[in-house]
Amino acid sequence: MMKKIQEAVAYIRSQIAADPEVGVVLGSGLGSFTNEISVEKEIPYEDIPHFPVSTVKGHSGKLIYGELSGKKIVAMAGRFHYYEGYTPQEVVFPVRVMKFLGVKTLLLSNAAGATNRTFKVGDLMIITDHISFLTPNPLIGKNHEELGTRFPDMTEPYRKDLIKKADVIAAAAGYDIKHGVYISVTGPTFETKAEYRVVLALGADVVGMSTVQEVIAAVHMGMSVFAISVVTDLGIRDEENIITHEEVLAAARNAEPKLTHIFKELVAQL
Ligand code: HPA
Repeated sequence: MMKKIQEAVAYIRSQIAADPEVGVVLGSGLGSFTNEISVEKEIPYEDIPHFPVSTVKGHSGKLIYGELSGKKIVAMAGRFHYYEGYTPQEVVFPVRVMKFLGVKTLLLSNAAGATNRTFKVGDLMIITDHISFLTPNPLIGKNHEELGTRFPDMTEPYRKDLIKKADVIAAAAGYDIKHGVYISVTGPTFETKAEYRVVLALGADVVGMSTVQEVIAAVHMGMSVFAISVVTDLGIRDEENIITHEEVLAAARNAEPKLTHIFKELVAQL
């Protein structure tokens, strides 16, 4: 494992000028944040030793390296999902590589379905906490002490100081930003009506198919994490409409400028 990480890190370092301090993982339909970066290098995933390769529509599959607000940043345009058939360890591999590249703060975004009845399509929700136990934990198996401890604390996976900063940024921009709990599911099916009710009963405000495994790996390694969900559909709803991937992508794209603004300002304040 460490050898694979080191080989990936060595390759990426051979392509870039200086180590990045900020890492970004972008969700479905949310890739245009990378337009804000003054790009110095784009590295296709297939060129990086041991990197999985992305297969989902809306995920372009490259590592983008450059500068934003005076900081070196590395962004994943396209992430790996458990439902694609990758193991949880493969899903989190790029986050581990980011850590060993020097990344201290990880920002993540995702598209999610809301079960909180007060949420609307297009809302942004800062993730304050998560529920991981419907998806396999990426730390199952031998613990690599070089990465972190066997039993990592998870009382504050999403850093309160970053949440506070984002709240101020959002308020200054006039955004009505939500806070809430994200629950991860494996997908690729969207939930049945009964499953959305279970999600709600378990205490989650939104549900999605990503993020949590990456956050667990990041917290294991001591990274500071901040994450935002974009509400792309409503799980608990009165009308009988169905949810499609196209609708999720369209809703994500509409909300994207707000998300981009928050990430950009947050990076400036790190
Ligand atoms: N459920 C799970 N994942 C999702 C959803 C959803 O409703 N919307 C976007 N990703």
